Amino acid sequence: MKKKIICLPGDGIGPEIMDSALQILQAIANKHQYEFEVETYDFGGIAIDRKGSSLPEETLKACLNSDAVLLAAVGGPKWSGDGDRPEKGLLAIRKALNLYANVRGLEVFPQLATFSPLKEENVKNVDFIVVRELIGGIYFGEPKKFTHEEAMDTLMYTREEIERIITFAFETARKRRKKVTSIDKENVLSSSKLWREVALETAKKYPDVELEHLLVDAAAMELIRCPSRFDVIVTENMFGDILSDEASMIAGSLGLLPSASYSTAGPTLYEPIHGSAPDIAGQNIANPIGMIRSMAMMLNDFDLKAGYVDVEKALHFVLDQGIRTKDLGGTASTTEFTQAMIAVLK
Ligand code: NAD
Ligand code: IPM
Ligand code: MN
Repeated sequence: MKKKIICLPGDGIGPEIMDSALQILQAIANKHQYEFEVETYDFGGIAIDRKGSSLPEETLKACLNSDAVLLAAVGGPKWSGDGDRPEKGLLAIRKALNLYANVRGLEVFPQLATFSPLKEENVKNVDFIVVRELIGGIYFGEPKKFTHEEAMDTLMYTREEIERIITFAFETARKRRKKVTSIDKENVLSSSKLWREVALETAKKYPDVELEHLLVDAAAMELIRCPSRFDVIVTENMFGDILSDEASMIAGSLGLLPSASYSTAGPTLYEPIHGSAPDIAGQNIANPIGMIRSMAMMLNDFDLKAGYVDVEKALHFVLDQGIRTKDLGGTASTTEFTQAMIAVLK
């Protein structure tokens, strides 16, 4: 069945890595006779420039009517004021699509283990998933206030919101090594007290899955000390944002990590976890792997397993050849890396 995919290249390195993922998607489609209808829309800073809104109505409408959304990255110094900005569009699209569960998988490619700042023996066998709550918590809580004298954000969660994301984490763990680490700040925050209470209650439905709790500061330390102890991490929006960027370095580069954001019904959104990297934009040196693997997660969710496996295999083959972008100590450009993958897929 033909799948409709909406592409949002966005800003900075976004268009460069999106181009890479779409070329690979095309190669996979040709190889397996998959049918995709791909449409590109303005989103983020470029949409502010062209349409006067970070999330134009037509973009949202197209996303709501799609089977999947591929998003590269948004943001940049050009759009940093108090008014509309790319990051607002990002939060708005997540909310509008009800994308409550953001899955950020971390595995260490053996070929890249030496690029981890951690000792090689400590990054072997690291394979965990961060389940980040994506449409609640301090990012969205009201009231918010900003004046030059006083500013406020609100960290609020309802029982239902917590139960939904904890359940997602347990279901994910059941298909993996059956361990959930719930990360909170229960010693200080009321929202975390409720979080832990609901985690404990939800765990009763999953006697086959181990549940542990960690305070977020200790969790940040444990991620570096012994990352292989984690299977499924579940945590609130902002903790998940921070910890997943920290975790990405275990694998060697922020440019490697994909993500998928799920709702209860409706399209899933796939995006690398990194941002628009304005410092390297327009130079054709961005690492496209996080974007390519996000696209591969989409293939897997579409049940196009052969395509998914092909992308993973091609990635390993290219890395085996020592082809790497600059963030991983290599000299390959974004387009050279992409071409190398396509050559394998043909
Ligand atoms: P960033 O993730 O864009 O970059 C952090 C560092 O990692 C930079 O040195 C960058 O060059 C490097 N990097 C990131 N992705 C890379 C890749 N694929 N290949 C090679 N190097 C890579 O974070 P930042 O600089 O703090 O933020 C820049 C802008 O991106 C901001 O406007 C921010 O709000 C936005 N942002 C957007 C998203 C998103 O669209 N989902 C996510 C994070 C940040
Ligand atoms: C991410 C980003 C966003 C977030 C920003 C740009 C709003 O850091 O997708 O990880 O904090 O969720
Ligand atoms: Mn982030």
